[in-house]
Order: sequence, then C-alpha cells, then structure tokens
Amino acid sequence: ERSLLGLKDLSREEIQSILDRALYWENHVLKVNQTFAHKIVTNMFFESSTRTRCSFEVAQRRLGAEVINFSASASSVEKGESIYDTVRTLESMGLDAGVIRLKPVGMLAELAERVKMPLINAGDGNNEHPTQALLDMYTMRKHFGDLSGLNVTIVGDIEHSRVARSNYWALRKFGANVRFCAPESMKATDMDAPYITIEEALQSDVVMMLRVQFERHESNVFSTAAQYRDAYGMTAERVSKLQPHAIVMHPAPVNRNVEIDDDVVECPQARIFDQMSNGVPIRMAVMERALR
Ligand code: CP
Repeated sequence: ERSLLGLKDLSREEIQSILDRALYWENHVLKVNQTFAHKIVTNMFFESSTRTRCSFEVAQRRLGAEVINFSASASSVEKGESIYDTVRTLESMGLDAGVIRLKPVGMLAELAERVKMPLINAGDGNNEHPTQALLDMYTMRKHFGDLSGLNVTIVGDIEHSRVARSNYWALRKFGANVRFCAPESMKATDMDAPYITIEEALQSDVVMMLRVQFERHESNVFSTAAQYRDAYGMTAERVSKLQPHAIVMHPAPVNRNVEIDDDVVECPQARIFDQMSNGVPIRMAVMERALR
C-alpha cells in the first residue's frame, strides 16, 4: 500500500517502519538528493494550511521531486468543479502522488478507490491527520526512547480534532496510555479513552494541547477565551506542576494565551517547534513510501 489515508487501519509494523525511516532522513535532511528527480507530485489543499503544506513541499523538494501546489481558492473549484474531478484532472496529467487536505469525512476513502495515484491524507475533516500523529510520535520517541507505557494526555477540543483521533489510534498500537481531558461540550463519543481532570493531566509524561476550534461550537460553555484558559490552558503555573521529564506538545497553529500562554510556547518543556521540524523527515518517509 502506497497511499496513507489514516493510522487507524495501518499496522504497527508499517508505522514503525515510517518512524524508523524518518530517523534516517533526519540525518540526511539537509542534503537535497535526487531520489525522485523524475517524479512530479501535487499538494492539493481544499482547506487552509501553513505547516502541513509547506513541510510536505520541503520534504518533496529534499527528495528531488517536482512539486505542483494546488490551492482550491485559486482554481476551477471556484467555478463549481468537484473534488473528485479536480483530483482526476491532476492524475490524468501523469502526476505520481497527491497529498490532499479536505473537509468532508469519508470522501478520501472514496477518492482512493477511484484514482490510481497514491493519495496521502493531510487532514480530512475531524477524521484523521496521520502525518501529524506520526511526527508527534516521532517527537515523543526522540524524547522518551520508547512509546510503550507512556502516559499521554490530549487536552481540549477532542470532538473536532483529527489530530486527537490519529494519535489515539496509533499510540495505542504501541502500548501508550492515551487519556483525554476536555469540557463536556468538547468530548468525543467514538473513542474509548478515559477523561481525566486538568490536575491529573499535569501528571502525564506528555501533555498534548489542542487548538480550540471556537468557530465549530454553536453554543459554547466558555463565553470567552479567557474562561477556557483558566480552566484548561497551559499556564506557567500549570507548567510548574509538571513532572521534570514531562513535555508539552501542540500541533499548532496555537491560540496564544488560550490553550498555551505566550511565555510557555517556547519554554524548555515545550516541543512545539521541534514537532514542526520533525514533520519534514516524517513526510520524506511518507513520500518515499508513496513514490518508491
Ligand atoms: N498542524 C497543522 O496541521 O497545521 P496546518 O493547519 O498549518 O497545516
């Protein structure tokens, strides 16, 4: 299988091999190589992105591939062309792989059945964001060595989070203890992990904060961002309660002073910018798997 649609259905061995290969690429990341000089890949974003789109492009260029960046807002999608017709159009030009971010859940699996070029999920609705979870696991593995027995608490808007879902599915395959911490209105019902308090979350090895997607909540229990920060935000006071070996993660973009205080984003325990750096070797490994 050369596509990467999600981690729920990917074996532990497959995930392990991507993580291991990323370690190889991390040591070679600064050298542009010509491994895929004859390949052309496309990044198709039907939703906005900074990190995922740019780090896929860096990874693709590091591997020597030619890149076509497709942005829905400057395309015939504006004239009403469907996602399927767009993907088929790019495939028909002979492209070798497509990275895709889109909103409708379930559409990616349907597309993968209908097109021949390998597709890589760069985030589909609230379903999965597999390369984000892979880079998160890679970041944890670099810090702790082993994922087995690791206590990981994911804090915040679980219901709307594809990052939470991909991490949940994948981390459990490696024996990590995944827990959630969220207000009632942000809890999900499709995952079988216990919910704990923020005080308990601070005792975890990894505290992963999620971006609050206020725009997706119709009636919000928190009428202001400040109320959310007081109840769930990673403040300097909460950082002081973490175990000495613990790390704080966030997929970004960060709502500063909501999920994480300004002065905590780059504190010694925070791994947020390391996560972004680790996205490049992870995506090199994923692109290599798609193109080999
Ligand atoms: N973490 C993440 O997916 O960021 P972008 O939306 O900027 O790609």
